Amino acid sequence: MKKLLVAVMLVAFAAAPTFAADVYTYTGKGTVTFDHKTHADSLGCDACHEGEPAKIEVDKKGAHGATCKTCHKDQKAGPTKCNDCHVK
Ligand code: HEC
Ligand code: HEC
Ligand code: HEC
Repeated sequence: MKKLLVAVMLVAFAAAPTFAADVYTYTGKGTVTFDHKTHADSLGCDACHEGEPAKIEVDKKGAHGATCKTCHKDQKAGPTKCNDCHVK
């Protein structure tokens, strides 16, 4: 029982300061690659998450707006053209 607890704690510690996925891919149209870690390192969590970071729903409407593209436009950095996000 003790051994199991230690194993569980190690896993929890390993995952604690970061997040579940460094990179997300979406395959609705071609493949969109979202490098969560690179974005987080350069922008900070608060750029996208309010309060305690948690799951954000990524759908077409959001991605083409506030969740992704609006920031690329505003910052004049990051892809804004269809095929720069949707790679075949
Ligand atoms: C900033 C990156 C980005 C740009 C630029 C972008 N998209 Fe998207 N798009 C996404 C993401 C992320 C999704 C949601 C995930 C998914 O459905 O694959 C999405 C979803 C979609 C979908 C729905 C796919 C499905 O599930 O059926 C279509 C169609 C689409 N985009 C077309 C376009 C077109 C056309 C353009 C250019 C006018 C464009 N996108 C520009 C990121 C982008
Ligand atoms: C550029 C925007 C952006 C930044 C910056 C960002 N995130 Fe996220 N994060 C997202 C999006 C979008 C999702 C949801 C992706 C999905 O599920 O398709 C997400 C999901 C998450 C989740 C829930 C799922 C998981 O991976 O565990 C956590 C926790 C999380 N982020 C933590 C963080 C932390 C901590 C930071 C800062 C170190 C951070 N995020 C920075 C956009 C961002
Ligand atoms: C708060 C601002 C912000 C948000 C939100 C954001 N991005 Fe970005 N993204 C950037 C910036 C800034 C860059 C440019 C980084 C660079 O060139 O160093 C970038 C670059 C990218 C790149 C190009 C990466 C490369 O290797 O050149 C892709 C693809 C991308 N973003 C996809 C997404 C997707 C998909 C989402 C939504 C799930 C998203 N981004 C949300 C700011 C943002």
